[in-house]
Amino acid sequence: MALLLSALSLVGLAFIAWLTVDGLLAIARRRRAEQSRRPRRLRVAARSEVAGELLCLQLVAADGKPLPAFAAGQHLLLGAPAGRNGSTIRRAYSLAAWNPAPSAYALGIKREAQGAMTQWLWQHLQPGTEIEASPPQGNFVLDSAPEPLVLIGGGIGITPMRAMLHAALAAGRPVTLFQLARDQASLLYGEEFAMLATRHSQFTYWPQLSRPADDWSGARGRIDAAQIIDVLGGSAGRFYLCAGNAVMDALQAGLVGQGVDAAAIHREAFGAAGGAGLSGLRLAVEQGGREQVFATAGEPTLLAALEANAVALPSECRAGSCGQCAVRLAEGEVDWLVQPEHPVGDGEILPCVCTARSNLRLAVA
Ligand code: FES
Repeated sequence: MALLLSALSLVGLAFIAWLTVDGLLAIARRRRAEQSRRPRRLRVAARSEVAGELLCLQLVAADGKPLPAFAAGQHLLLGAPAGRNGSTIRRAYSLAAWNPAPSAYALGIKREAQGAMTQWLWQHLQPGTEIEASPPQGNFVLDSAPEPLVLIGGGIGITPMRAMLHAALAAGRPVTLFQLARDQASLLYGEEFAMLATRHSQFTYWPQLSRPADDWSGARGRIDAAQIIDVLGGSAGRFYLCAGNAVMDALQAGLVGQGVDAAAIHREAFGAAGGAGLSGLRLAVEQGGREQVFATAGEPTLLAALEANAVALPSECRAGSCGQCAVRLAEGEVDWLVQPEHPVGDGEILPCVCTARSNLRLAVA
């Protein structure tokens, strides 16, 4: 009997020890995961500009520690005091180059006449200055399927495509890049792509300009799905799209119509949709039991109006895809700038893709 009791207590002790170790390991895992999501300070190691349109930055860790690796297509969320009265604005920027063990993160930031954040970045980010940045994040990443890759990037949407191209070339995967731009000056990274196409036989580069100068000898006009399939010689492949929502909507529907499997099409919207931005409308915002009231000042989206008045919302995609910026519309009417990809609940709106049509009352969780 005594033997049985001591055996049982040994089993009990072992069980308690296992629970304790398991619990401690779980806490350590949670801490590590939290730390890896925490923003950190990055320092500008190099800065250059392309044709006054694109700000190219190389960012290194301000504390000198190694930077986490990332998947091609991911982005950083930069935070800067670019709002009215110095309020923090956070905005996602795609990593514009890929390396399996990055010593720096490359960003390509387009100048936007209306964008308070991009204006701030262009003005303040000089070599040696620091900025808050999230770790690389986002689900718009290359899959590991063996099929050929088809990358379609419009405007500044070429930046994640450039990182994906680097990863595809490193993996020896067949890849075709369609770059859609207005004219030669807006063909960002075009020289690099043309050079890579001469060096890698598995890479085809297809730039297409909607309003080129007379001396442009490449493809002209707006591309459509039939033309893409024609260039590819078939509909097989994994398709990655990053451009304005309207362009992606048309291409996605067209590609499916041309026989591309809908599940093989991946897309990422970028940048804030731009609305007409009415001025002088009254916005009442309830948050944490307080109410703030202010007036719109022609901001292109409701999110921009909120941020300009120090109402901080998480806003990873700024294009209606992630759902992070959702707020409750208690009173008033909004205009949706695009059909959002993320589902919205009853009485909910996504301020990143809405403008105010009337005075509004919003409830922020
Ligand atoms: S920021 Fe992603 S839906 Fe608004």
